[in-house]
Amino acid sequence: MSALLEVNDLCAYYVTSAYGIERTVQAVERVSLAVRENEVFGIAGESGCGKSTLLKILLGMASPPLRIVGGSVTYHVNGGSLDIFALPEAKRRQLRWQVVSYIPQGSMHALNPVRRIRDTFHDFIRAHRRLSKRQIDEFVGDYLGNLGLPSKVLDSYPHQLSGGMRQRITIALATILSPPLVLADEPTTALDVVVQRGVLQFLEEVRQRQESTLVLVTHDMGVHANLADRVAVLYAGQVVEEANTTTLFAQPVHPYTQYLIRSLPKLDDRTERLSIPGRPPALDNPPTGCRFHPRCPYAMAICKTTAPPLEQVGPNHRAACYLLSARGGDGSHA
Ligand SMILES: Nc1ncnc2c1ncn2[C@@H]1O[C@H](COP(=O)(O)OP(=O)(O)OP(=O)(O)O)[C@@H](O)[C@H]1O
Ligand code: SF4
Ligand SMILES: [Mg+2]
Repeated sequence: MSALLEVNDLCAYYVTSAYGIERTVQAVERVSLAVRENEVFGIAGESGCGKSTLLKILLGMASPPLRIVGGSVTYHVNGGSLDIFALPEAKRRQLRWQVVSYIPQGSMHALNPVRRIRDTFHDFIRAHRRLSKRQIDEFVGDYLGNLGLPSKVLDSYPHQLSGGMRQRITIALATILSPPLVLADEPTTALDVVVQRGVLQFLEEVRQRQESTLVLVTHDMGVHANLADRVAVLYAGQVVEEANTTTLFAQPVHPYTQYLIRSLPKLDDRTERLSIPGRPPALDNPPTGCRFHPRCPYAMAICKTTAPPLEQVGPNHRAACYLLSARGGDGSHA
């Protein structure tokens, strides 16, 4: 499968200033990854590790106080390559929704609370297609019908819909122009478990129907286990491990990934779940060396001074941890 989107050595910081004191939050630090056509690429990690910031940059929506400090984001579409930082804003806007669309964190952000759903669809489609009101009505009605959504929701305001229906509508809005790539930021986080399952199934059905690629951001490893083909684990703005989902869950090699997986609830398991000790660091003053070292039970002297490189540890498997070289790269411990 070829890459649809490539990120190379990306660094992006929030630079703010108050009372003459400048503060730099290193939210994305040397991130490299490639998203392949037709896959579900998961991005995992605790709150504050830079997931939403990364998505914002992929969408070409980085704006002050967020600054791109280095690296590149390249889309490979229609036989050509587009460097998102080199594109004029008008072209970037065109890229959004035609090539890449976005399901934001919290569905209320996508739907205007004071407009009926129908009007939100109209506003959106009119901004991108030259269609009459009647044609838009038909287009939207057909699309919702094909997805099994009742057309009567079009006459509702967002607050009149259940959380699950609102999120399905948000997904329908983001995908109605059939973009080849969809970026979803915590698409089910605010929903209860049963509703969550239905919405994820809906998202996957839409993806399969459109044969599109999905970048799925969530801190919930259970969601990645169910839906993602590959997963990148972010910690404090950096990719610490990336692998096929089955490999990642069967043989996680980075201690942080191991914690994330062990903290998942298991059916019929009454033993206490292992929570990750400590808290993620503040990114205006991240730890030196391996950013995970203050929380890592295996930390060695070198971990405190020098950041481990992200290395290939197997087919389709990369990780950044000195334990790998100490163990000859087989990655099997505890
Ligand atoms: N506008 C901003 N100004 C300064 N710092 C910011 C800004 N937005 C985010 N940050 C910081 O950047 C870091 C990454 O934030 P981000 O929202 O990308 O994390 P996240 O992984 O999406 O978290 P969550 O799971 O809570 O959504 C955090 O330390 C956050 O405090
Ligand atoms: S590099 Fe060191 S501190 Fe970082 S995860 Fe590996 S063992 Fe732990
Ligand atoms: Mg976020």
